[in-house]
Amino acid sequence: MVNELFDYPAYLSAKKSIDDRSLNRQVWSTMCHWLEYRQTQKPGIKLLEIGAGIGTMIERIADEAIVKDFHYTAIEQEPGFRDYALQRLSESQEYTLISKDQLWQLTTPNTTITIDWLSGDALDINQIVKETDFDLVLSHAVIDLLPVPLFLPDLFKQLEPDCGYYFSLNFSGKTEFRPVHPDDETIYDAYHKDMDDRFNNIDWLPSRTGEILGEWLIEQGHTVLATGPSDWRLASRDNEDDILFLENMLQTIEKALQGLPCLESWLIERRRQLASKELSFTASNIDYFGLI
Ligand SMILES: C[S@@+](CC[C@H](N)C(=O)[O-])C[C@H]1O[C@@H](n2cnc3c(N)ncnc32)[C@H](O)[C@@H]1O
Repeated sequence: MVNELFDYPAYLSAKKSIDDRSLNRQVWSTMCHWLEYRQTQKPGIKLLEIGAGIGTMIERIADEAIVKDFHYTAIEQEPGFRDYALQRLSESQEYTLISKDQLWQLTTPNTTITIDWLSGDALDINQIVKETDFDLVLSHAVIDLLPVPLFLPDLFKQLEPDCGYYFSLNFSGKTEFRPVHPDDETIYDAYHKDMDDRFNNIDWLPSRTGEILGEWLIEQGHTVLATGPSDWRLASRDNEDDILFLENMLQTIEKALQGLPCLESWLIERRRQLASKELSFTASNIDYFGLI
């Protein structure tokens, strides 16, 4: 479960614009062209999203308007996020949303999306989703939170062999705040180690997901059709979303590294730099699109 000190839905909302400018355009457009072609072969496209948060990927796909009249199954483990997604999509000037039985129907000038929002743990995928005929499985800023060698084989087993996958914003091991601070390396190493300690019983380093995912997919017999960097680059002078995101990053590090001797002084300095708009931040990410 999401267990942060800050307002997580507000963080996901601020993250939307940051992610939009970070996404690898070449990987995104390869995926869109593939979907466009797929639609000519098979009407009634079906998408499955793992870890849908507050529904921002639904907006991205709707705004792209590549696919017409499709079905979107969203899985999110936080039950409360369903209402945030419903409210967000209902309030948008861009869409009309009708909630009918368990399904939502989202209409834009170019497409109609039937959305099935399922609250549950994607690790129990075969209990949550009964269909197998999805055309594309998406997961955005989520795969690095999951035990890849356990989860992805289960997920892919559930899908047809010609299904596509689009996994974006997979953290790939580099965290960097600027200006340089003498304790940076200690903080970054401890922060990455904390991520890697998440799954002690499997051979997988979550902090390096972006780097190792492609090789893992190929070893497992899957095809990688497009890959490329999608780094987050933020500066506290830019805008309100960046400032909120940076404060949340500092809080995430604060929570993860409780008790580390240099943490307090490092955080005081970073918060001072955030307030005086000197702070900038980069995290390396990698996107992938391919066929399972
Ligand atoms: C970093 S957020 C990204 C959310 C959304 N994709 C976005 O970018 O706005 C990770 C999301 O994955 C969800 N999540 C993590 N593990 C999950 C699991 N095992 N099953 C379903 N959702 C999960 C979290 O609850 C959270 O909403």
